Amino acid sequence: MADNKALLSVEELKVYFRSEDEVARAVDGVSFDVGREETVCLVGESGCGKTVTALSVMGLVPIPPGEIAGGKILFRAKNLLDFNDSDMQKVRGNQIAMIFQEPLTSLNPVFTIGDQIGEAIQIHQTATQSEVVERSQQLLKDVGIADPAQRLRDYPHQLSGGQRQRVMIAMALACDPDLVIADEPTTALDVTVQAQILRLLDTIQKMRSMSVLYITHDLGVVSKIADRICVMYAGIIAEQGNKDAVLKTPKHPYTQALLASLPNREKRGQRLYSIPGTVPNPAYKPDGCPFHPRCQHTIQNCSEQYPGMCDYGDGHHARCPVLFEGGKGNWCD
Ligand SMILES: Nc1ncnc2c1ncn2[C@@H]1O[C@H](COP(=O)(O)OP(=O)(O)O)[C@@H](O)[C@H]1O
Ligand SMILES: [Mg+2]
Repeated sequence: MADNKALLSVEELKVYFRSEDEVARAVDGVSFDVGREETVCLVGESGCGKTVTALSVMGLVPIPPGEIAGGKILFRAKNLLDFNDSDMQKVRGNQIAMIFQEPLTSLNPVFTIGDQIGEAIQIHQTATQSEVVERSQQLLKDVGIADPAQRLRDYPHQLSGGQRQRVMIAMALACDPDLVIADEPTTALDVTVQAQILRLLDTIQKMRSMSVLYITHDLGVVSKIADRICVMYAGIIAEQGNKDAVLKTPKHPYTQALLASLPNREKRGQRLYSIPGTVPNPAYKPDGCPFHPRCQHTIQNCSEQYPGMCDYGDGHHARCPVLFEGGKGNWCD
């Protein structure tokens, strides 16, 4: 699936967490690309390895207990896993920025918004005090914050949750990144504010020609912003493809089950489908396909062999040989 034009190309990434008596295979052979000016959504239930994947790209996995057990993370065709700390520091911020889920814990409560945006600007460029103030105000304007001069003097607790997330986005933009990784940036916000932030990210992405890796557990959000979707389950990519292909013609039983459990107008008043069973503990994943104990299409092979990626064309792939051409998909051993 390597695409020469991809800005980011994650290849067979494996990230394990080792404790005294077990190894949690949090990310277990994940491959995907993010093209230029593309929005790719990583979607999956809590614990499936989304954040660890994002932290790996940022070079922020805590090692130990974490270890990069395999794979490559190619950014502009260079493997970030070969970079030392100081080179990685230059990439973070200058080229790749990350927006986290909870803006209140990412902002320092004892410094003003102006201090914090100013710091983000100065990490990456030398500027005079008045240039920093001017740039900070412009960034706040860009993210739709009214009265930026006043807001720069505020402390984080004086802002609403939505405004704080806008400030976090402004800080991520301070270095003019090529790629923004947003890890559940709207999860802590109410639905209206969530929609505003999504629109904002969309506008900024187009204005600045950035690529976005957007992480969420919410398929409703995905349908609004994704160009392409990667569906993760238990540390692997179960399915990936263009948004419409994945949402309208899902090929992996897990994606199908996720979509069936989504509320929509036709299902109003009906009881929603929920996937039976629970996500496996990454230290004790079942053999074969990690989804097989919860799957409606399981055959004996599923618990014995690892399912191969099946190619549905146009970049649409699903790791389920059972549903591919009447069961003719590849198995790996
Ligand atoms: N620092 C860590 N130490 C040990 N295990 C971790 C650590 N960070 C993440 N994990 C494990 O990795 C798995 C994937 O976590 P994560 O990527 O945060 O999931 P998601 O973001 O999809 O909810 C989880 O089982 C989690 O317990
Ligand atoms: Mg997470």
